[in-house]
Amino acid sequence: MMLRKRVLVTGGAGFLGSHLCERLIAEGCDVLCADNFFTGTKDNISHLVGHPQFELLRHDVTFPLYVEVDEIYNLACPASPIHYQHDPVQTTKTSVHGAINMLGLAKRLNAKIFQASTSEVYGDPQIDLQAESYRGNVNPIGLRACYDEGKRCAETLFFDYHRQHRLRIRVARIFNTYGPRMHPNDGRVVSNFIVQALKGEPITIFGDGSQTRAFCYVDDLIEGFIRLMEAPDALTGPVNLGNPVTFTIAELAEKVIELTGSRSRLEYRALPADDPRQRRPDIKLARRELGWQPTVPLEEGLKRTIAFFDDLLRTLSKARRSTGAARVVGNNGLAGDGLDRLQAEKAPRLRRGRGAAVVLAAERGDSRHQLGVALGQPAPLEVDVVLKPGADMTAAGERPAIGDELAPAGRGGRPGRPG
Ligand SMILES: NC(=O)c1ccc[n+]([C@@H]2O[C@H](COP(=O)([O-])OP(=O)(O)OC[C@H]3O[C@@H](n4cnc5c(N)ncnc54)[C@H](O)[C@@H]3O)[C@@H](O)[C@H]2O)c1
Repeated sequence: MMLRKRVLVTGGAGFLGSHLCERLIAEGCDVLCADNFFTGTKDNISHLVGHPQFELLRHDVTFPLYVEVDEIYNLACPASPIHYQHDPVQTTKTSVHGAINMLGLAKRLNAKIFQASTSEVYGDPQIDLQAESYRGNVNPIGLRACYDEGKRCAETLFFDYHRQHRLRIRVARIFNTYGPRMHPNDGRVVSNFIVQALKGEPITIFGDGSQTRAFCYVDDLIEGFIRLMEAPDALTGPVNLGNPVTFTIAELAEKVIELTGSRSRLEYRALPADDPRQRRPDIKLARRELGWQPTVPLEEGLKRTIAFFDDLLRTLSKARRSTGAARVVGNNGLAGDGLDRLQAEKAPRLRRGRGAAVVLAAERGDSRHQLGVALGQPAPLEVDVVLKPGADMTAAGERPAIGDELAPAGRGGRPGRPG
């Protein structure tokens, strides 16, 4: 009997996790994908379901897990600000309790364990090129802290388990990564720009667009994961994995417009709090110890990602055309009470119903995301968002009632009632 390596991937139904599961299967491993589908979807791994080397488990890593595996990749954690800020307490729990539970599992099994850490541990860096020795500049009480500090604490736990229990650990600090299966509306810059360009909507740039980012294509990153996991045990990390070639956000927007052939114009908005000005990985360590560096140029990676989103948007619009009139399932677009009610009462009806949902929103990204989360999948699969920004959102007369059927609405305009 052939004994295959058994590998647990937490967060395996997410963007990076699904690519990692694919790669591990291709390497001949038995893969157990554990995910609570908070931001991940079954669509991401549907092509793997039924594969003899693949098993899917719905599980929340904030609870202990008892399985038998040889290696663990701990990726479970929402990664984009609108997702991780949706329920910040749960985000910290996922990072911290999730790390404790997975480290406990690794200790019991004497399994090697990999942590998907992040460049966010550097916060808003005061130096241009961030090496692993840089201690970072994180605001511990800001909006991003639930993620940044959660990930920092997870790193602490990894190194304490290593020192105290001699656990074999690998910690990767991942910088901005993009590629197929990113969320279409998670507010991350690459997916945002591509979706806006393909829809012909204005491309929103936060700040003046001069802030820089470095973008790594997903296949390159996954290659880095595998090399780090297979490296000698002395290489615990943290190891930066990312692309050191930087672009300004404005340059990225222009590249996306060029490659999609879009007529979208650029729209500038205020920079969110604690948004880092500069991010650039120093990857000397990864180059030296893993012989790793990114190989896919931005233009090539963008083309593959654009092809994915183009396909996704076409499928969605076809699905929407066939579902008939839209039905209003919520009209405040705000978090908290309204969202909880929507989740509890309306979402199941929506899934069964024939129409798409319409939500009026004061904030474009927010309600799309919130409803997407409420439905447990990316919003555009079932949700059409009609935007009505501004103060008059509160004027009762402007709002259609829940349950109303609406004629197709103009993009960004007011929903029309059927005639
Ligand atoms: N994509 C990037 O650019 C990037 C950069 C830095 C770090 N990372 C890290 O890589 C990992 C994967 O990121 P991604 O981009 O694939 O994000 P993602 O949101 O697509 O994937 C995260 C996955 O974790 C799952 N998850 C969330 N909370 C969970 C919980 N409590 N229990 C079980 N599953 C849970 C989600 O459902 C999702 O499938 C994350 O840990 C993230 O912090 C990603």
